Amino acid sequence: MVDDIDTLRSQFLAGVDAAADLGALDAVRVQVLGKSGALTQLLKQLGATPPEQRRARGAALNSLKDDIAAALETRREGLERAAIATRLLSERMDISLPPPEAPAGLIHPISRTLEEMAAIFGAMGFSVGEGPDIETDWHNFSALNIPAHHPARDDHDTFYLPGIEGGPARVLRTHTSPVQVRTMLGQAPPIRVIVPGRTYRADHDATHSPMFHQCEALVLDRDITLGHLKGCIIDFLRAFFGIATLPVRFRASYFPFTEPSMEVDIGWNRKTGDIGAGGDWLEILGSGMVHPNVLANAGIDPREWQGFAFGMGVERVTMLKYGMPDLRPFFDSDIRWLRHYGFSALSPVMLHEGFGA
Ligand code: DAH
Repeated sequence: MVDDIDTLRSQFLAGVDAAADLGALDAVRVQVLGKSGALTQLLKQLGATPPEQRRARGAALNSLKDDIAAALETRREGLERAAIATRLLSERMDISLPPPEAPAGLIHPISRTLEEMAAIFGAMGFSVGEGPDIETDWHNFSALNIPAHHPARDDHDTFYLPGIEGGPARVLRTHTSPVQVRTMLGQAPPIRVIVPGRTYRADHDATHSPMFHQCEALVLDRDITLGHLKGCIIDFLRAFFGIATLPVRFRASYFPFTEPSMEVDIGWNRKTGDIGAGGDWLEILGSGMVHPNVLANAGIDPREWQGFAFGMGVERVTMLKYGMPDLRPFFDSDIRWLRHYGFSALSPVMLHEGFGA
């Protein structure tokens, strides 16, 4: 009597092996374990078996049932794995290649320069800060030690907005320096922040636009000196222009919010426009040690903390680096200009590659 069990076992295992997919495997399962399946029938007949054989036969049928369950499970897993592998192969796509017909959008040169600045200053431990384009007179002028009669406050130079609901008049910020004040009010020193952003002045010609961009930097700590200011700016300019020997000159100047103040020039050739050599100097940014009044206005004790700041025009350094002769097309959205000067989105800014033009 045990023979029919062995026969069923070998038949069944052969069926399991032969099942080529999950559907076929299920058909085999139904043949054996279904309502009228072969094993189900044998189990039903167990009651009619003579009592002296019943025990042994019952055990043998149950062990067959276990074997069947295990074989079904193993085969099911194998088939599922094979199905996934086939699907992966058939659905594979090469995501490293752009689709050939895709319209290639480009990164605007201003965005590119801002990314480069964030990368270079980021490597020096700076974070990126922000402030509002619509500023209060206090943040934009007074807190920065800019006196009431200063020409920058002139109606001709600055866009004023009426106060909201009787509040104080607002200005479209004329520089990113007010974010120095906001940063100091918002966080305790030490501070190392750059602030790229939009700025506004009533100016319009080939090198001035009513809306333009600046990038501010502020460093505050206990023992910051002019040496740190110089090192930081020289390193930045050489990395940004990709010229390790770029000549950099610091020239005494005046800003209300720094003392001492310096304008920074880089070496270039006035005739050819080439940067890095040629014996001429080109002014590129304003800088200085943060004025004690500015620190005090922002709630910081100037006897404990000191530091430096600088600010530069983003369009200006972009034009110098990439050779744009005119500022106005930066904001014209002319697709021909963008195609010529834009950057591929597929070659992002990476510090280790350098930034040489
Ligand atoms: N805010 C100045 C401007 O718009 C630039 C500047 C000069 C920023 C000196 C600074 C600085 O932080 O220290 O012309």
